[in-house]
Formats: sequence, structure tokens, C-alpha cells
Amino acid sequence: MSNPLSVHTDFSLRTLNTFGIDAIARSYLQVPGVAILEQVRRDPVLGCMQRLVLGGGSNLLLTGDFPGLVLHMVGKGVEIVDGDPASTAIHVRAQAGESWHGLVQWTLARGIGGLENLSLIPGSVGAAPIQNIGAYGVEVGDLIAAVHCFDFDTGQTFTLDHAGCEFGYRDSVFKHRWRDRAVILDVTFALPVVWQARLQYVELSDELARDGVPCNDSASAPDALRIGAAVTAIRTRKLPDPTVIGNAGSFFKNPVVSPELRDRLLVDWPRLVCYPQADGSVKLAAGWLIDQCGWKGRSLGAAGVYEKQALVLVNRGNASGADIVALATAIQHDVAARFGVMLEPEPNFV
Ligand code: EPU
Repeated sequence: MSNPLSVHTDFSLRTLNTFGIDAIARSYLQVPGVAILEQVRRDPVLGCMQRLVLGGGSNLLLTGDFPGLVLHMVGKGVEIVDGDPASTAIHVRAQAGESWHGLVQWTLARGIGGLENLSLIPGSVGAAPIQNIGAYGVEVGDLIAAVHCFDFDTGQTFTLDHAGCEFGYRDSVFKHRWRDRAVILDVTFALPVVWQARLQYVELSDELARDGVPCNDSASAPDALRIGAAVTAIRTRKLPDPTVIGNAGSFFKNPVVSPELRDRLLVDWPRLVCYPQADGSVKLAAGWLIDQCGWKGRSLGAAGVYEKQALVLVNRGNASGADIVALATAIQHDVAARFGVMLEPEPNFV
């Protein structure tokens, strides 16, 4: 017989979401591994409850109390899973409950490059594939070989390979077909044996150059550790530390529009920030759009727009989820009225 599950009732989630929203979960359970999930699924009460799978809580907006069961993934462990000298990749497997930045540091400390541009992104390993976290020209999906999951409908575990994850810009199959069904247990990364610096983001190469690290000739290119440190420095300067000011990183996705709309906007907004995409579409900088609407640094009640990055909404005190939603809605309205573009939130609203 299995041990009774240590379920907490009426549990505050305030310290478990980076926005610092004080919402209450009806039930809360820590999940170190798959055995607990199997037990929950078989339980006549817990097995029927609405579920919220929680990682680092960094891509989450709690809009009210949660009337169901929070499954907090806390499984730890990182290992190199093959040492095939002929392979072009080093496979590293990490449990869902590992901290993302902790994993990046683990790899860099062992001389394994690949994840350095994704340094200091808040959140857990298990959440990283869901929204395909990305920064400074790298998306995590490009480095993921496999994602191992538990299927709550069947009680079976299964593994999706890279193609099966259907990664897109801040998007994956876990936001669609497997939403509310798959629980990510661990992620296997394929990191390059022959590593190359990814320095196409001018902000990153400028940061290195300022520190006297040349980036323009391959002989003296910075190593992965140095790049990770530069990314950490930029993020520390530009983005609020969620342990000090509640936030969920970029609150909106950068909207992808047609080249025709871009051309029309450029007539009135010659300084429009836009990035042409491989498929012919154009990505606009949502932070720039919000900034042009005058929202940077402003507040609506206890919810605010960060002074140094208009794409980041912050909790200035005791903001509720509803306060953040009200601010986000006002911003969406202004950006749509001025630019004819609807901004889509990045965090998961619960
Ligand atoms: N900008 C402004 N005003 C602002 C903010 C930005 O004019 O208040 C302009 C900047 O000058 C720049 C452009 O907008 O020309 C883009 O800004 P930035 O380089 O800061 O990047 P971003 O597009 O706002 C994206 C990601 C970040 C990632 C950075 C760096 C999204 C939604 N966000 O931000 O990811 O760190 O690029 O690669 O794609 C996250 O997803 O949580 C996140 C922080």
C-alpha cells in the first residue's frame, strides 16, 4: 500500500509565483516524481480535481484563488546520459523541478556550451519547453532532444522527441494538444560537442566589447562562460529581479505581422522596431509599441509597467491578478488603437 499523500489545504501560493500574487489553492501537493502522480490519479477525490501543474511560477498569472489541486514539481537531478565520443551532441537530462538558471550554470561549469544565451531566465526546467523560452537569438527548443511526460488521462508515461514538441515562438505542443493532460517529468538536452558562440544580438556583442572581449574574430571569440556572464549582466540591468519586484518577464509576445502592415506603419512611425522573419512575416517589438503609447513607468493601482522595459508588468505592492489584468487590458487597448496590432499575453492566466 502506498503512503498517504501529504496534501495541504487552503495553501497560499504567494511565494510560488514570481508575480507575488497572494492566491489560495484549495489543495497543494509537492511532486518529487512520477509515483506521486500515479497515486493522485488513482485517488477518488484528488484524481477528479481540477489541476494546476506548477514549476517555478514564473510564467503564471493567478487571477483568483484556485479551487483545485496544485501539483508542484520539485523533482531534482541533472546528469549526462551518454558519453558516446562519436556523437555530435552531449545529452544532458534534467528533472522538471530543477531551476532553469541552475541547469545553465551546471552545464557551463562542466565546459558544456549551448545554453549560455538563456542565462538567468527565471523558472524551472519543466516549464522551459512549454513556452519554448528564448533570449538573445537562442530558443531552448533548438537544444531539446526529448521531453518525458506523464499522461494524466491514461496513467502512462511517454516521450516526445524534438519534432513531436512542435516548437514555435514561445509556443509548443504542450500549450495545445497536451495542455491540462501531460505533466513534464524531465527534459533531455542535446548540447553541441563543437560549440559556436551565438552573438548576432548587437546588445550582447556590445556588452562583451564594453568588457574588452572582442567578438569579431573567431580566434579570440569569448567562451560560453563569458557569454553567460554577459547575458546575466544585461538581464540584471534591464529586468526586475522577481525576488524584489514581482513580475513574469515579458508580459506580451512580440506580435508577428504582415510586411504590408509593417510598411503602412513605417509611414507614420519611421522608427518602428521590426525584425524580418524567415517566412516573410515581420516581428514587431511589443516593448517599443507600449513605450510609444506612454505606458513605460506608469501604474494602474498596484500594477505597473517597469521603468526600464515596457514589456514587463510588475506588482508594485499588493496587486491582485485582477489589477494586472486591468493594466494589461488598458495597454492592449491603447496599442490596438494606435498601431492596429493586438498584443497577446505570454503568461498562462489561471
Ligand atoms: N524597446 C523600447 N522601449 C521599451 C522596451 C523595448 O523602445 O521599453 C525597444 C528596444 O530598444 C529594442 C526593442 O524594443 O529596440 C526590443 O527590446 P529588447 O531587446 O529589450 O527585447 P524584447 O523584444 O522586448 C525579447 C524577449 C525577451 C528576451 C529579449 C532578448 C519576447 C516576448 N521577449 O524581448 O524574453 O530576453 O528579447 O532576447 O520575445 C521573456 O520572454 O520573458 C523575455 C524576457
